[in-house]
Amino acid sequence: MTSSSDNRARRAHPTRARRVVVGVSGSIAAYKAPSVIRSLRAAGHEVRTVPTPAALRFIGAPALAAVTGAPVQSGVFEDPAAVAHVETGEWAELVLVAPASADLLARAAAGRADDLLTATLLTTTAPVVMAPAMHTQMWNHPATRENVATLRRRGVTIIDPDSGPLTGTGYGAGRLPEPEQIIARALSVLADGSSNGDLAGRHIVVSAGGTREPLDPVRYLGNRSSGRQGGAVAAAAAARGARVTLVSAHVESNVLDELPPQVQVVAVSTALQLRDAVRAAAADADAVVMAAAVADYRPADVAGFKLKKRLLDTSVRPDEGAAGPTITLVENPDILAELVTDPPRRDDRTVLVVGFAAETGDAHGDVLAHGVVKARRKGADLLAVNAVGADRGFGDVPNAVVVLDASGQEVARAQGTKREVADALVALISDRLRSSMDRQ
Ligand code: CTP
Repeated sequence: MTSSSDNRARRAHPTRARRVVVGVSGSIAAYKAPSVIRSLRAAGHEVRTVPTPAALRFIGAPALAAVTGAPVQSGVFEDPAAVAHVETGEWAELVLVAPASADLLARAAAGRADDLLTATLLTTTAPVVMAPAMHTQMWNHPATRENVATLRRRGVTIIDPDSGPLTGTGYGAGRLPEPEQIIARALSVLADGSSNGDLAGRHIVVSAGGTREPLDPVRYLGNRSSGRQGGAVAAAAAARGARVTLVSAHVESNVLDELPPQVQVVAVSTALQLRDAVRAAAADADAVVMAAAVADYRPADVAGFKLKKRLLDTSVRPDEGAAGPTITLVENPDILAELVTDPPRRDDRTVLVVGFAAETGDAHGDVLAHGVVKARRKGADLLAVNAVGADRGFGDVPNAVVVLDASGQEVARAQGTKREVADALVALISDRLRSSMDRQ
């Protein structure tokens, strides 16, 4: 599995200079705020820094003013005539709070305005991105979970904290991500203007394309998936403001080129690589959409050299009396079913699991009958059943799906271009995520 560096380079698009308010709140991670400010300024952006009074206990105003290149203000009463909270809120094209402490999240969720930063958050109409940092217990506390859910519902992009060593002896979720990651996320919100999208702050993982199961260095068992439907789902989710990771098996040449820049692509080849990449990306995901055509079986042995027609190794051996060789296959894991039975998130939040079922229908039942059986077998929250065949389903052709829930009940139908089907499916995902958040 490799994260395609070409792809990354293509996505490192220059962004025009922006006016960014950097809010800093009272977390030990405030010491990283100068790196965020410095990197934003080095990239040509104009920065105003607004620390909370608690932040100034961790990092001094002179240090913040020095990296900002301007004085910093913390309260609303320092220069009341300037009405700084309104002026700063209107000036901002983006408000980035890094780090956002549990207390800052609580005050923002409650709509408090007891310092310049929270007052600015109430006056601004600019997109708001927050990067929380705190101890794991605080991050997992129901009060913080509810505050995060409230802020996300209002369109704030919340960057999930990283896991790792915390201050003291602690270890777990709560670390402030690296400054470059924070800036990339924040600017991508600006780039697509999507912070008001209903999936802003969400992370959606999509798999696409067909896996290739190698026989030897030059041959593989594969399938006809183009990756177009998965690519369309990734683009549709990004258009609604989600952060999207596309785990891309083999796809047709222009599928990746047509993706919006904020979709991060992880390239894989085999089913086992795809499983690892999906599970790794899903550790902080809100939903996983398995649109990839995963090979159910792989050759038991992979030759390290090109197999000769008459010199076959043990995995591809001549069948007694048969015309050709026999390939011994072993079963691949069912990645979709595993996401349901062994959830991939590293905290106790649930991931919405969505699958596709490619069916041709046969003597035992039509496309939908097979879909219902598959929905019950796999247990995914949503399963989009579509008909495939030699002349339908694959490539740049219209699609039609019936979406079933885990009990096999029909919940929706959609048809049209692959993007139209993707938009309908992503709208369903958004509804499901919103209603699960409302229940939290
Ligand atoms: N899938 C998976 N892992 C596999 C096979 C399939 O995660 N080893 C996922 C696909 O990405 C898709 C769903 O399961 O979301 C259904 O795939 P499909 O090929 O239609 O079904 P199969 O499980 O292969 O079942 P069958 O071959 O009996 O149709």
